[in-house]
Amino acid sequence: MARRKYVVGNWKMNGVTASIADAQAIFAAAGDHAEVDVAICPPFTLIGAMVAAVPGAAVGGQDCHSAVSGAFTGSVAAPMLADAGAILVIVGHSERREGCGESDADVRAKAEAGLGAGLSVILCVGEPREVRESGRAIDYVLAQIAGSVPDDFDATRLAIAYEPIWAIGTGLVPTVDDVAAMHGAIRGALAARFGGAAEDDMRLLYGGSVNGDNACELLGAGDVDGALVGGASLTAAKFLPIVAAAA
Ligand code: G3P
Repeated sequence: MARRKYVVGNWKMNGVTASIADAQAIFAAAGDHAEVDVAICPPFTLIGAMVAAVPGAAVGGQDCHSAVSGAFTGSVAAPMLADAGAILVIVGHSERREGCGESDADVRAKAEAGLGAGLSVILCVGEPREVRESGRAIDYVLAQIAGSVPDDFDATRLAIAYEPIWAIGTGLVPTVDDVAAMHGAIRGALAARFGGAAEDDMRLLYGGSVNGDNACELLGAGDVDGALVGGASLTAAKFLPIVAAAA
């Protein structure tokens, strides 16, 4: 099965009610590129409003708890995201791995929770700058893959996003060869562990300073099936050139 391109906006902690208009503009124009799957993950507070404003749009959460309910003040469970109309969730973003101390085991449990709630999951991995500079980036990321990816999943509902931490929000990007080498290594590890559908159907996204100028090159790298975009996903003017580059 050919893998469809997938371009996902991670709005992080940006967006208020007025920003729904940006999402409407993005989804409306993305309709011109029906061959690309486009999604936006706004803050939790905007999920319901975005789903209501753009019926049928792919809207997601940026995190979920691994439990389905309980005494976890401030957290949101995967079934709650589904109930709000989300169809996907990001787990294991480096801003949560580093900022909130999430381990590979935590990320795996969250991925399992998302899949269990019927959501698609984007599971993030990526190395810090010192690891890249020491030449150990691939080993580091493959260890994250080994520890974070659940044993059992529908390969069409689990995507991996490779986001080198040093490229996030910095304007720095790896070379196309480095992206291709990392994605090839991830694909190889998935093939060795799972074979079959995971090898053929799982989508591998690149994230980290993707913009309209570099999207074509990055999306053209070997084994890159799409992009997870932060800053450049907040407005249609910046996001749509990336969607167009994926088409
Ligand atoms: O999840 C997306 C991300 O971390 C990349 O952010 O702003 O560098 O595109 P940005």
